[in-house]
Amino acid sequence: MTTVRSFPADFVWGSATAAYQIEGAASEGGRGPSIWDTYSHTPGLVKNGDTGDVADDHYHRWPEDIEHIRKLNLDAYRFSISWPRVQPGGSGEFNPEGIAFYKTLVAALVDAGIKPVVTLYHWDLPQELEDQGGWANRQTALNFAEYARKMAEELGNDVDVWTTLNEPWCSAYLGYGSGVHAPGRTEPVSALRAVHHLNLAHGLAGRAIREVLGEETQISITLNLHVTRMADPHSLQDQDALRRIDGLANRLFLVPLLEGHYPDDVLEDTKGVTDWSFIEDGDTELIHIPVQILGVNYYSTGMVQGTGAGDGTSDNDGHGNSSHSPWIGSEDIKWLPMPGPHTQMGWNIDPGGMTELLVSLGKKYPDQPLMVTENGAAFIDEVSADGRVHDDRRVAYLHDHIAAVLDAHDAGVDVRGYFAWSLLDNFEWAWGYERRFGIIRVDYETLKRIWKDSAFWYAKLARTSELPATTDIDYAI
Ligand code: FCB
Repeated sequence: MTTVRSFPADFVWGSATAAYQIEGAASEGGRGPSIWDTYSHTPGLVKNGDTGDVADDHYHRWPEDIEHIRKLNLDAYRFSISWPRVQPGGSGEFNPEGIAFYKTLVAALVDAGIKPVVTLYHWDLPQELEDQGGWANRQTALNFAEYARKMAEELGNDVDVWTTLNEPWCSAYLGYGSGVHAPGRTEPVSALRAVHHLNLAHGLAGRAIREVLGEETQISITLNLHVTRMADPHSLQDQDALRRIDGLANRLFLVPLLEGHYPDDVLEDTKGVTDWSFIEDGDTELIHIPVQILGVNYYSTGMVQGTGAGDGTSDNDGHGNSSHSPWIGSEDIKWLPMPGPHTQMGWNIDPGGMTELLVSLGKKYPDQPLMVTENGAAFIDEVSADGRVHDDRRVAYLHDHIAAVLDAHDAGVDVRGYFAWSLLDNFEWAWGYERRFGIIRVDYETLKRIWKDSAFWYAKLARTSELPATTDIDYAI
């Protein structure tokens, strides 16, 4: 007899999306252009020339999408606000039509009993701000705080959790380092400036939201922390490679955000790139605000080797191809191919990494509540003759990673929720529509939504808080 594994009744089950990936309506309702409009419309940068112009047409189909979330029995929905939809130029005038869209969405979610978990920045910077230097420019952080303040005033306490930023690692290093994400710049100094200005933006925005809504308001940030291993744990060179990668990937964010200073070793490691003089007096205090929920996105693991020679890191993030490394100043560190199985992204499937990450955070920051704000997998899905999408590999991926979250929870880690990436197939950045992460399939010809087996499976989990077997697909839901 197998024992049924259960989650606490108040564990939050959700699913996540992001504005540019699902909304479409790129030039409707007074929306201004974002860096992702510019990037995706530049020939050769996104697979098959795909853009977010139409995406899942969520801008028009949101009532249907909320109905799906409700039928999935989800407690919460994590979505992002498109900054250029509510403030087309990123400063100055706000756009009432854009604000009304999110007000209606939030109200409809609340009516349906679904908690809105809002991300203020999931990568779609207003193009006008990029024209003034983007995240390499300190002013962008100040503008972001004004936008955050306005959203707090408009959406108020109906929002359950305010997430300032999604994966600032990607915004900084992929946007300004390797250039595989918008704005596509390959400038090491700008990438590190972006890291700091994103951290600052988080602190300023969190403070602004609290000023409007009070100290009890739940502020959060979502990080894609890297679980990295060493080729040879006994090699001093590999140990140092790991320390440096952990510094760039994890500690440059975690330490200022949760401890209020920058890690000295990382500043030292990168001094050949910049002297970090753009960190102004008082900045680290501004960055350091209470974070009620730390969002963690987890997909896979990596392995490094110190080579002692400048033979180059590769772009190991799986988000796109570039001859520029996102790992600033780490040309002597090599990323090794990971053993399979892999998802369609080429990312290795390693549920143990999820437990490891949560447990290590729990040890380091025992009083910090955590939430898994993204986890999921892209596979080549097919619609079968019976009209269904039997995505067994995605079901197995979700099952094993959710079990890994439960392992961390049972080990005493304060992890409060899990959000499947993604509710819908959508625009997967540099990979366009070729990579499908949804538990609901989107037919890009008709924009029709079809529940994959993973959606039926997840709906049962969300209803019962018991982990169903991978074969337990109940279409009767
Ligand atoms: C994360 C992003 C999300 C999606 C998944 C697959 O890095 O936050 O938008 O692209 O990866």
